[in-house]
Amino acid sequence: MIKLKNINKQFQKNHVLKGIDLDVEKGDVLVIVGPSGSGKTTLLRCINYLERPDEGSITIDGFTVQGKHPSKRDVLVLRRKTAMVFQHYNLFKNKTVLENVSEGLVVAKKIPKKDAKEIGVSLLEKVGLGEKLNEYPSQLSGGQQQRVGIARALALNPSVILFDEPTSALDPEMVGEVLTIMKQIANEGITMVVVTHEIDFAREVANRVVFMDGGHIIEQGPPEEVLIHPQHERTKRFLKRLVKEPDYMI
Ligand SMILES: Nc1ncnc2c1ncn2[C@@H]1O[C@H](COP(=O)(O)OP(=O)(O)OP(=O)(O)O)[C@@H](O)[C@H]1O
Ligand SMILES: [Mg+2]
Repeated sequence: MIKLKNINKQFQKNHVLKGIDLDVEKGDVLVIVGPSGSGKTTLLRCINYLERPDEGSITIDGFTVQGKHPSKRDVLVLRRKTAMVFQHYNLFKNKTVLENVSEGLVVAKKIPKKDAKEIGVSLLEKVGLGEKLNEYPSQLSGGQQQRVGIARALALNPSVILFDEPTSALDPEMVGEVLTIMKQIANEGITMVVVTHEIDFAREVANRVVFMDGGHIIEQGPPEEVLIHPQHERTKRFLKRLVKEPDYMI
């Protein structure tokens, strides 16, 4: 469903993605892990051309965009097949919770206001925020704001939702509520690509885990292989830092 071929990206002399090939199937929950600076965010942003790869192609649902200079229209078509959930939520501060979710539908999808509102209300209820429709982001906790971010992504009904460390800006007591919602939507069969350091989430919810380091995919496979019985030295070293000893075996 999503196919990345030979994605290369350089920031000046910093070669950040070095020929990434990756396939994501419909309904996959793919978790990307790796050390800071390994290129995880850049890769995620290349999937919807928020970052332009220097080389390579991205195909989503049979629609391909390639190289550094695609047409604006092609980028837009590709982008509309995705939705992104950001580490810092990226909500509009001067819009209500409901407007944050429904306005994208009116603007991008040309859905009538009344219908967009209905969709927004039902999704906000789904993420447990039915009582907060008319509040502003600043009146919500971090966990609640991120749940608005997830409702906004769901509203777009994308082929894939891209999550970039959705819980890493949250106080520890709020991480659980966001992961619970993510688990719930994963169980509904929504295709998700998730960059996260939440190894327990990856083990429980992912069906595939990719370990990246230095702009390469070092290893990928089911969580029980990559996270519990990693083959590569670099993966072992990375996990050792994240996970307490007895949780994985060399
Ligand atoms: N817009 C940019 N301009 C210049 N360099 C960038 C830009 N974005 C990322 N980089 C560089 O690319 C490299 C990979 O960054 P990226 O953010 O993709 O890593 P990451 O794996 O997401 O790290 P983290 O776990 O810290 O979020 C880093 O060296 C970073 O400094
Ligand atoms: Mg990152």
